[in-house]
Amino acid sequence: MDFSTKPLDAKSNFTGSKTACIVVGIYENKKLTPEAEALNASGAITAAVKSGDITGKVGSTLVLRNSAGVAAERIVLVGLGVAPAAKAKQTISNPVFAKVALSTANCLSHLSAADAIITLGVHADNQNAAIRSLVLSLRASAYRCDELKSKPETKTTGVGKITIIVTDATSAKHSLAQSVAIANGIDLTKKLADLPGNFCTPTYLATTAKKIATEFKLSAEILERKQCQALKMGSFLSVTNGSDEPPKFIILKHMGGKAKDAPVVLVGKGITFDSGGISLKAGAGMDEMKYDMGGAASVLGTMRAIAELKLKLNVIAVVPSCENMPNGRATKPGDIVTSMSGQTIEVLNTDAEGRLILCDALTYAERFNPAAVIDVATLTGACITSLGHHTSGLFTRHDAKHDDLANEILTAGIDTGDTAWRMPIGEAYNDQLKSNFADMANIGGSAAGSITAACFLERFTKQYTWAHLDIAGTAWKSGAAKGATGRPVALLTTFLINRAAA
Ligand code: BES
Ligand code: MN
Ligand code: ZN
Repeated sequence: MDFSTKPLDAKSNFTGSKTACIVVGIYENKKLTPEAEALNASGAITAAVKSGDITGKVGSTLVLRNSAGVAAERIVLVGLGVAPAAKAKQTISNPVFAKVALSTANCLSHLSAADAIITLGVHADNQNAAIRSLVLSLRASAYRCDELKSKPETKTTGVGKITIIVTDATSAKHSLAQSVAIANGIDLTKKLADLPGNFCTPTYLATTAKKIATEFKLSAEILERKQCQALKMGSFLSVTNGSDEPPKFIILKHMGGKAKDAPVVLVGKGITFDSGGISLKAGAGMDEMKYDMGGAASVLGTMRAIAELKLKLNVIAVVPSCENMPNGRATKPGDIVTSMSGQTIEVLNTDAEGRLILCDALTYAERFNPAAVIDVATLTGACITSLGHHTSGLFTRHDAKHDDLANEILTAGIDTGDTAWRMPIGEAYNDQLKSNFADMANIGGSAAGSITAACFLERFTKQYTWAHLDIAGTAWKSGAAKGATGRPVALLTTFLINRAAA
């Protein structure tokens, strides 16, 4: 899918545009946008609106073919909702425009049109967000994970070439480059999470990191089991005991900033299959635990995005990756392991393995003297209970420095629609991690499960500013549209873009 932008100016001549589709907005209460007005010489649009074939409500669409006096083969009408007041500062709010972009993408994906011109009144005040919504929705509608089907499914041709009409041409170029880079990152993330555990192994993730490094001139380093043993990563390695797949500890560096600038470190949970281990999970839906490397996938996708953008910031990805499997050598409930930090952990439940691999990665991150560390993990079912599938859980300490970091992350989420919600951590919850036999237990009981998981991680992050994103609910969709979402690549990439600009 090829994207370009074109300024709206006096020369814009929509009736004469030779294209397979021209996409224009329609308001509720039968009001036309200026762009629709321009294409309405024959009265076909007014007739469609009058007949009720299109309501103009957000999400409604209608395709008109062969309109007299219009060079385009099709006019695609898209509902924009209630017309804004004449003096309104912003024509359409970002969340509403995101829905408009989604319905546009859905509609276009069902057509056999080679190209499209989209003129939805993308105005200067919301242009950046509007371009991102359009690009991400259109790319999402084109995404497939079908390389493991023996025959490719019959595809609709899909729209190959998209021109977005904008008001500010210079900033639009910039927005478009960022949006396409984010879309490329999201596609990579989805593909990694959609691929099953017998394809996407720790070795596959390591190879992917090396490929990104080669393509974009980053540096990748893969630590093997022996090197992890030498570093005393006893907690990480305890999770791999029952698996035949070799663990990989992946480090990928994008040093786009000044040599002495402290890096942002992104840590991603890379469990390529989570059976639960000896604390075996129930069978129903266990297949979905192939996406337990969603954190790792989103960190790699984000690295791809910022590398493509040549972002002027130092960013280091750290991905501990292994399987969580049961066998005769597997870690047993009650076993006590020693983490790289020296703190000992009583493994009361082998299914709480994410924190066991992350804690050693968080200790490893100390060596980079990071400006901030963000870990990203499909960590707890409890987070899905709390926040559902709409918002990721955000956890940090509660002081001024961490409030600032939390706000940066929350803002990047709101801007992109890839939202997060801050949750509490602290002393009271920490009491739930007490163990009679080790420094701490790896579970804190059934109450506040996503919070006690965050409290566990916090104990390994005392040396730097840290935030934790629990993406168990947001990284994946179950049901008919089963598959990865590519979240939170848009949030993370935008957070980093904003940091580089600060
Ligand atoms: N990978 C799971 C969390 C998860 C559950 C992610 C559902 C996505 C969907 C994690 O390793 C896990 O098993 N957590 C346990 C923790 C419990 C044993 C304290 C959970 O959430 O049940
Ligand atoms: Mn688990
Ligand atoms: Zn897990």
